[in-house]
Amino acid sequence: MYRIKPAHITGIKVITHGICLGFIALFYYWGFTDQLEGDPVKILIHQMGIAALNMLLLTLALSPIAKTFRQSALIKLRRLFGLYSFAFAALHFTNYLVFDLQLDWANLFEDIIKRPYMTVGFVSIIILFALSITSPDNVKRKMKKHWQTLHNFVYLSGALGVLHYIWSVKTSVGKPLVYLIIITILLVLRKDKAKHWIKKQFKA
Ligand code: HEM
Repeated sequence: MYRIKPAHITGIKVITHGICLGFIALFYYWGFTDQLEGDPVKILIHQMGIAALNMLLLTLALSPIAKTFRQSALIKLRRLFGLYSFAFAALHFTNYLVFDLQLDWANLFEDIIKRPYMTVGFVSIIILFALSITSPDNVKRKMKKHWQTLHNFVYLSGALGVLHYIWSVKTSVGKPLVYLIIITILLVLRKDKAKHWIKKQFKA
């Protein structure tokens, strides 16, 4: 049976860096040189938000794909994909705070408290932040079993990210529905792991 080798993983990582960094550089270049049609701020918020969600769902999909196709090497991509999800989410958030709210922090906190779609987006990005800063190997070693407990929250972050998307759209619901179906499948695939984890918590 064909197996993905470490050299292929390195290749995929290089391609991922190229696509993600190229995507960011292109959109900001187009934004700052007035080459985005329509409202550039809205476009940047949209593109970075969608990219964050895509990378997050891709991160969650790696385990079931690796298991189904017996390609355990794919698991090595989880950290990189997850970090890019956070990077896109951070840019999405920063675009909103800097270009839309003109750094009005009070307005931001009011939004987060009063608008449910902002509240769930905020929780989702906080989880991504916590996972990113605890992703280095030395932190993982220090956290021992708590690391896995914390990193299981990636599923909650994904679910809240999709909810944030669904609540944020005012017109067409077609695309958000596709994301809802994907996250539901991903969560259903992990339900045994979740059951096992909950049982363990009650036993402890
Ligand atoms: C505090 C954190 C966040 C803030 C302040 C925020 C802000 C926003 C805003 C202002 C919009 C545009 C809504 C509109 O068009 O009226 C939006 C949409 C969106 N956000 Fe977020 N967001 C946050 C977190 C996240 C996270 C963590 C993700 C992904 C994991 C995400 C993904 C999206 C997506 C996919 C859209 C829809 C894009 C569109 O159709 O234009 N957001 N967010």
